[in-house]
Amino acid sequence: MTQLIISTDPAQPAVAAAQATYGTPPPDVAYPKTIKSFVRRAGRTTTGQAKAFEDLGPRFVLPYTAALLDADAVFGRNAPLVLEIGFGMGEATAHIAKVRADDNFLCCEVHEPGVGALLKRIGEQGLTNIRILQHDAVEVVDHMLPLACLDGIHIFFPDPWHKKKHNKRRLIQAPLVAKLAARLKPGGYLHCATDWQPYAEQMLQMLGAEPLLANTAAGFAPQPDYRPLTKFENRGLRLGHGVWDVVFVRRN
Ligand SMILES: C[S@@+](CC[C@H](N)C(=O)[O-])C[C@H]1O[C@@H](n2cnc3c(N)ncnc32)[C@H](O)[C@@H]1O
Repeated sequence: MTQLIISTDPAQPAVAAAQATYGTPPPDVAYPKTIKSFVRRAGRTTTGQAKAFEDLGPRFVLPYTAALLDADAVFGRNAPLVLEIGFGMGEATAHIAKVRADDNFLCCEVHEPGVGALLKRIGEQGLTNIRILQHDAVEVVDHMLPLACLDGIHIFFPDPWHKKKHNKRRLIQAPLVAKLAARLKPGGYLHCATDWQPYAEQMLQMLGAEPLLANTAAGFAPQPDYRPLTKFENRGLRLGHGVWDVVFVRRN
């Protein structure tokens, strides 16, 4: 199992060795800090979600700090690490954590009722392999994730930002893709899914242009079996909407 590097100080031998192998992270200035990929939506936290926050928050919600994460320490075990960005209400997250019990899932979401909903699922399903960061995932990637620490990344149905003037708020853009690729281990995967065709094409183009990544398919990928059809997706499919999966791996 690859050991996590918990510093970016190149004076430290382990960091220097990792940077010699994997390269230095792309500069933070590449992703404009003022543009957010989300708006903080209003939304009521239910009584059940509030109780889940109270009972399970201390164990499963990690504080955001601008310091590199020691994943083995926060999960209490050494296991493959998957980052999820934007889990919404956590339906797919909980399903995947259950069917992949041997993997650890570090899950970012800014929407408070969504965090409460995932905590509730964690309690109901007895899940132990999820930790939540209620914070902007871009800052988490920038400040908490060491190079080459991830075995996988899930970005399912990211906000499509349909209007052309809002396209700049989409998550899947070259600078963030480069940062994500740098945090994957060689052989680690980046899996995106969307129901908005122009965004699906942008995903294919952006991931295809990243030198560290290689497509696992000729174009769009077949839906991997671990990703469930959520209520939202099923409704879309009934209405005749398409869904596209894009799965790339980090080159050696
Ligand atoms: C359209 S929803 C999809 C949710 C879920 N993945 C699904 O398939 O139902 C996108 C979610 O991403 C979250 N999000 C967007 N940008 C984010 C960011 N930079 N960090 C954390 N969460 C983010 C939003 O709050 C929203 O809940």
